[in-house]
Amino acid sequence: MVPKVSTLGGYIFEYQKSVSNPTGFWANVADSYYWRKKWQNILDWDFRRGYMRWFEGAKLNITENIFERQLFYRANQTAIIWEPNDPNEACRTMTYGELFEQVNRFASVLSGMGIKKGDRVAIYMPMVPELVVAMLACARIGAVHSVVFAGFSAQSLSERLIDAGARMLITSDGGYRGNKTIPIKAITDEAMNACRCVTTAIVLKRTGEDVAMQEGRDYWWHELMQKEFPPVQAAEMDAEDPLFILYTSGSTGKPKGLVHTTGGYMVYTGYTFRNVFQYGDGDIYFCSADIGWITGHSYLVYGPMLNGAKVVMFEGIPTWPDAGRYWEIIDKHQVNQFYTAPTAIRSLMALGLEWVENKHLGSLKVLGTVGEPINEAAWHWYHDHIGKNKCPIVDTWWQTETGGIMISPMAGITPTKPGYATMPLMGVQPVIVDQEGRQLLGNSVEGNLCIGYPWPGMARTIWGDHDRFIKTYFSAYPGYYFTGDGVKRDEDGYYRILGRVDDVINVSGHRLGTAEIENAINEHPLVDESAVVGFPHPIKGQGIFAFVVCTHFSTGGEEGIKNSVRMAVSNMIGPFAKPDKILIVKGLPKTRSGKIMRRILLKIAEGKTSDFGDTTTLLDPDIVNEIVQLAGQLTD
Ligand code: WT7
Repeated sequence: MVPKVSTLGGYIFEYQKSVSNPTGFWANVADSYYWRKKWQNILDWDFRRGYMRWFEGAKLNITENIFERQLFYRANQTAIIWEPNDPNEACRTMTYGELFEQVNRFASVLSGMGIKKGDRVAIYMPMVPELVVAMLACARIGAVHSVVFAGFSAQSLSERLIDAGARMLITSDGGYRGNKTIPIKAITDEAMNACRCVTTAIVLKRTGEDVAMQEGRDYWWHELMQKEFPPVQAAEMDAEDPLFILYTSGSTGKPKGLVHTTGGYMVYTGYTFRNVFQYGDGDIYFCSADIGWITGHSYLVYGPMLNGAKVVMFEGIPTWPDAGRYWEIIDKHQVNQFYTAPTAIRSLMALGLEWVENKHLGSLKVLGTVGEPINEAAWHWYHDHIGKNKCPIVDTWWQTETGGIMISPMAGITPTKPGYATMPLMGVQPVIVDQEGRQLLGNSVEGNLCIGYPWPGMARTIWGDHDRFIKTYFSAYPGYYFTGDGVKRDEDGYYRILGRVDDVINVSGHRLGTAEIENAINEHPLVDESAVVGFPHPIKGQGIFAFVVCTHFSTGGEEGIKNSVRMAVSNMIGPFAKPDKILIVKGLPKTRSGKIMRRILLKIAEGKTSDFGDTTTLLDPDIVNEIVQLAGQLTD
């Protein structure tokens, strides 16, 4: 069993140990896993080169740690409790024994179809247990999975397939989302047609709708699973062999494929899951995140399953058939730990208490949040009405890049404060720097959040572009990993995350680069240029405000352009990236050197009409008033 801290004193003691002797600390945690061969060296690193290697020389397979290590006593224990989109459809449960059987079978299918260790396999699927089977089967044979959130458009999917050089795509005919059906296979067809690397697709039947199957390329999941393929052995992986690639947005350029490796990721996610949620044997844990994002990878699949947890996996959305769905699921499956995003809490809070009051929620012990800062009102609502004042809230700060939770209370151990991620977890050394890169020591300071020392779960590179990895994370403040977030350390030494300090925005917990959205908008033939900023949004956390420069109009006029701008973004990225507000303007506030002054646009998007600071360096200062006027007339 992975070690678990259970008192505040224990945390302080372990934390001290973990920073004074990080390698000794992590070697001790790593000892609780199953390695085919132990490491020769615990850590080798140089942040300046973005170089980190944990447990070098060790050999393992992460699925042997989920299955073989625990199977003797868990074969008949529940692994997945699957709740379908439609509450009238039957739930499915799978024990660890059954999951193991499916994973082995699918691993043989993959290997029978020619997939080898190191090959990249993309997965674009709804939230069904077969998605977990597909991921773990890849890990079983050493293939690198790259799950793409099924809300991304065909174009985004094909970009990711090409970047990863995926050979195979695992998908489904369709998917359900509330009262909608998503034509998943049609989207993947378009994506596969736009890339040459994918030669095989495996298609799970979920909705039963008619889909086109291309002879020699597309195969049905259920047919392959019935065939007899020779059984396969779990691949022997090096601790630093890649486990998966997951794409995320940055402030510039196209999305980055972050690479997580096997040994360190396993040690870190298993340890943090157990400690943050204080998961105890037999508990039922529900994570509402989609597996297409890192939260689903680390805290629905790997972290919990490395601890033999019983995991509730939900296919649908929180507001269908009604706004009580999460609470109904919690009562139905007697959930003990529930992990969700502030945006979900805010949207359910806005729909009123009537959806909560008729639920019991007595099984809950721990509540978690992740993905964006949680405002105090939402924190209190969650605490009072869902947790009934008796469940600690773990506000967990981390990132796709960090692999696992970094700053967070440990449930019931760390005293909490609304809006605060509180204290660093074991081995995490936060450093706050000012604009000049000077470290801010002591309490009551505010600045940019860096991490001063490696931790096992961190991403090792950007797929195919290590220079970009160094540039993005290790160059702004040499010697540190830079997170991109602003932070405050208060008078008690507690950490509060203030949000991104770069051009990344967080819309309903979805991370988007403003440049990415601008590129999509600029595709429109009548758009000269555009600038996108985030603005405070009561439910989404941040909304998307697009300033679009158009000097020629077609017959549809302004409305026509706005509609086609929304379409362009939806087609190029996905419907979740559509701007909330579009303002057609004649020009943007630019300096004489041609740089857009975003701080002015940020203020206008916030609703400010004056106090724009120094505008003397603007090429055309009048443009600011013009934009303010237009913004005042904006109705949607
Ligand atoms: C960004 C990372 C990590 C899983 C989901 C998001 C923001 C994340 C918190 C939190 C305030 C948070 C940060 C971070 N963020 N958790 N508890 N409090 N902000 O992963 O898509 O990689 O986004 O989400 O800004 O940098 P991601």
